Amino acid sequence: MTRACIIGWPVDHSRSPIIHGHWLKKYRIDGSYTKQAVRPGEVAAFLHGLRKEGLAGCNVTIPHKEAAYAAAAVTMPAARAVAAANTLWFEGDRLVADNTDAAGFMSHLRIRVPGFDASRSAAAVLGAGGAARGIVYALLDAGAREVRIFNRTRERADAVARHFGPRVKAHDWRDRVDRSCEAGVLVNATSLGMEHTAPLEMPLDRLDDACIVADLVYVPLVTPLLAAAQARGLAAVDGLGMLLHQAVPGFEKWFGVRPEVTEELRGLLVADIEGH
Ligand code: ATR
Repeated sequence: MTRACIIGWPVDHSRSPIIHGHWLKKYRIDGSYTKQAVRPGEVAAFLHGLRKEGLAGCNVTIPHKEAAYAAAAVTMPAARAVAAANTLWFEGDRLVADNTDAAGFMSHLRIRVPGFDASRSAAAVLGAGGAARGIVYALLDAGAREVRIFNRTRERADAVARHFGPRVKAHDWRDRVDRSCEAGVLVNATSLGMEHTAPLEMPLDRLDDACIVADLVYVPLVTPLLAAAQARGLAAVDGLGMLLHQAVPGFEKWFGVRPEVTEELRGLLVADIEGH
């Protein structure tokens, strides 16, 4: 039996077992996917023992993504770009670390907006944390010529711009509306708009009519930002799609089948989110 897991601290809230459990059943694979609470400071030891424990690999959630990246023998470009990993597997005896959030974001975006061309106009990203870095990487990788970052703490936006180079420009948080007018895509990569947090203040009336609005927040599923985008007739891309699509490469590496993200699976996650 092939085994994989997700590590985090805490890890109870993770919805990844629903996704992988669904695929294991659907593809009739003799495997398991469990949650493992790993204390901060014990990540490297846990990962070094992964093979001996009989695990094919694991997913990594907060706050262990940086530690997992540091513990791997081989790192993939997307993981290097953000210095954080969410998916680990073995190649021979070597532990490989990747970050599939960026690819997951882009897969979902391309399904929701077929023909999306990142090179056509500037992209606007709200936030400068780990999630935002993943999105910046995804947009640059997709050919964006300019990515504008808006963050409350300006220095963090500057640091992201320095890290990615001249195609990425840092801006003050207060300029997010003025400087997003001609953006082709706007992505909320802050935690604002999440249930029990402060609202995101981002009026959309001055956005271009063709602007795509994406939110990484998926609880609630339709955030106030996405509701406002829909009300304005803009394409709205929710955060749940990224969660579903980021799981695909890991499952394929561990269990040998490239799984499909279906409406049925999405429905399971929606029911779980709405049940909370
Ligand atoms: P993650 O790794 O998930 O991106 P993070 O590093 O904590 O998490 O980033 C959270 C993002 O939400 C940051 O961009 C943060 O802005 P700061 O860098 O200024 O902290 C942003 N954020 C959180 N609360 C905010 C608020 N009340 N107003 C504006 N931005 C906020």
